[in-house]
Amino acid sequence: MTRFGVSMEVNLLEKFDELIHQKGYTNRSEAIRDLIRKEIVEQEWESEEAEVIGTLTIVYNHETRELSDKLTELQHEWYHQIVSSMHVHIDRHNCLEVIVVRGKANLIRSLSEKIISVRGVKHGKLTMTSTGKQL
Ligand code: NI
Repeated sequence: MTRFGVSMEVNLLEKFDELIHQKGYTNRSEAIRDLIRKEIVEQEWESEEAEVIGTLTIVYNHETRELSDKLTELQHEWYHQIVSSMHVHIDRHNCLEVIVVRGKANLIRSLSEKIISVRGVKHGKLTMTSTGKQL
């Protein structure tokens, strides 16, 4: 660990303190470290080379014709990038699937878009994070 001083306007620091208090931080140092990590992680998502990891969450009606087959086919096509998945039967018709994905950011984005755009997928959301190696 190393220490460094930061100069800023009183107003800005007050706002920062208020914000981190609301978020539950007990000290500024951890809040600042997390802000820096967030920037590094988001920069990884823009990089051509960095490996990212994340989850793709989709909701669909399993009764939609050919949907289950199509989803299985796509997941087999991307088997290098798809690490695991969890299936939840929400009710008689709707399913939730959480798919863990890992690979180059561009590839992860495009496979997510392919899956989300399949007919019958009602909602989908990709959440990317970091493998943690660079942090
Ligand atoms: Ni189901």
